[in-house]
Amino acid sequence: MLRAIPSIFSLMSLRLLKLRSDILKIGELEFDDDMVMSNMMGPNALRILEEMIRDLDLKKGMRILDLGCGKGLTSIYLARKYDVIVYAVDLWISATENYERFKEQGLEEMIIPIHAEAHDLPFADNFFDAIVAVDSYQYYGHEAEYLDKHLAPLLKKGGKIFVGIPGLKMEFDDGIPTVMEPYYKLEYNFHTCTWWKELWGKSNLVEDVRCCELDCHKRAWDEWLSCDNEHAKGDIPMMKADAGRYYNTVSFSAVRKNKRSEVRSQQ
Ligand SMILES: C[S@@+](CC[C@H](N)C(=O)[O-])C[C@H]1O[C@@H](n2cnc3c(N)ncnc32)[C@H](O)[C@@H]1O
Repeated sequence: MLRAIPSIFSLMSLRLLKLRSDILKIGELEFDDDMVMSNMMGPNALRILEEMIRDLDLKKGMRILDLGCGKGLTSIYLARKYDVIVYAVDLWISATENYERFKEQGLEEMIIPIHAEAHDLPFADNFFDAIVAVDSYQYYGHEAEYLDKHLAPLLKKGGKIFVGIPGLKMEFDDGIPTVMEPYYKLEYNFHTCTWWKELWGKSNLVEDVRCCELDCHKRAWDEWLSCDNEHAKGDIPMMKADAGRYYNTVSFSAVRKNKRSEVRSQQ
């Protein structure tokens, strides 16, 4: 019996250790590691979101659009951390699949899953307090007209929009570097901060455009490459070839103009 006591203790401490390692901490929030790893669709969206909206002042009950939310990890983060109402919009993942996930998290009253295309969003103008898009804007937002035609009108005056996506340290103006040729495709639409800032600078509806490289780049990619997803495994040779030379993670943001600054910019 006495000999059994240490083994019970060691089993308990092993269990505690396991519990601890099963938790992924993102800022002050704790997530089930398996839940995050099995729902990732690219570099860890939670890391990108946490860093890119550090200065965004979200208040309980605000309406947030999470565009291209994939399996909704970022929507879960927003609802849990800020007590906001999230409209979780995606094209490849069905609303029903995401609804099941939000129910499992007990967040179905706070996150509204919607299946929609980014050029045909089913919302009223001036509806959202903020818009976020993690690892999705490069698929639909690279044409200059997109922002003013399809997205910025949905934002309230003074509301903020934040995008975080894979990017480049330098434009591939002289062609794709030889080592990246087997992996990089033009339709990826990876660009530098300067490129995105210039694109959004053409907007008549937003102002105060900012862009920066995110510090979480390596960690977000390492976490993605370590998960058991066939696309992640496919990305390993690409990131090995990159070896930290070309890719980064860029984040850009802007504020919806109020009426007076809209009028000024049209004159
Ligand atoms: C690489 S996944 C990232 C998903 C999620 N944001 C994340 O980081 O885990 C890109 C997402 O963009 C969405 N997407 C791509 N093109 C879209 C479009 N035209 N309209 C709406 N969503 C789009 C896809 O449905 C997909 O879920």
